[in-house]
Amino acid sequence: MTATTPLLRIVVLVSGRGSNLKAIAARADAGELPVRIEAVVSDRADAGALDWARARGIATSVLSPRDFPDREAYGRALGDIVESHAPQLVVLAGFMRILSDEFVLRFSGRMLNIHPSLLPRYAGLHTHRRALEAADREHGASVHFVTPELDGGPVVLQARVPVLPGDDEDSLAARVLREEHVIYPRCVGWFAAGRLAFRDGAAWLDGKRLDAPVVCGYETKEGT
Ligand code: GAR
Repeated sequence: MTATTPLLRIVVLVSGRGSNLKAIAARADAGELPVRIEAVVSDRADAGALDWARARGIATSVLSPRDFPDREAYGRALGDIVESHAPQLVVLAGFMRILSDEFVLRFSGRMLNIHPSLLPRYAGLHTHRRALEAADREHGASVHFVTPELDGGPVVLQARVPVLPGDDEDSLAARVLREEHVIYPRCVGWFAAGRLAFRDGAAWLDGKRLDAPVVCGYETKEGT
C-alpha cells in the first residue's frame, strides 16, 4: 500500500460493541488496509460501536426495526442509508438482524459478513454453545459473501481454533474473537486490493474460484 493507493469506501453495520469494526479501523490507521470507513450504521441506539465511531468523527446512523412495519420496509430504508454513503463494500460486523432479500441483492457481491463458527456448521445464533454441546474439538470463525440464505453465502476465509478442556462459552468466544480480528481485516484487504470478488454465486480469489474456503488455524498458521 502506498500513499497513492485509493481507499476503498466501506460502510460498517453493527449491533454491539464493534470489536471487529475497531480491528478493521486499527489496520487502516496503521496504513495496512486501504479502506475509509464512511459510516457506521446500527439497528440499536445503544450499540457501543456508535460512541466509538462518533468520537472518531465517523458518520453514524441508527435505524430501529421497530419503526417499520416489516423486514422489507426496514431493508429498503436501511439500504437507502447505506447507499447514501456510496460504499464499495458493506461490512457486516456483528449486525444481529436478518436482512431482507431485497437488501441483500442490492449489495450483492459487495457485502461481507463474519460469523463465529466454521460454516456451514452452526448458522444462526449461539454458535459457541452449540459447538460445546456437540463436543467439537475445533471451532472458529468464517468470513463470507452475503447471499439471501442466512449465513449461507460462499465462505472466503476461516480461522480454526481448538476447543480446550474446561472451555465455557466465554473462553471459547474470546479465542474465536481474537481470530476474527485477524481474518476480517485480511478479507477486506483482499477485496480492497481487487483480489477477491463474487461471481456466478461463488467467491473468487486471485482469479481462481474458491471451491473451499482458505483456512488459517492453529495447525497451519499460514499467512496468506
Ligand atoms: C462477533 O463474534 C461476530 O462474529 C458475531 O457477533 C460478534 C460481534 O462482535 N456475529 C454474528 O454472530 C453474526 N451472525 P463485535 O461487535 O465485537 O465485532
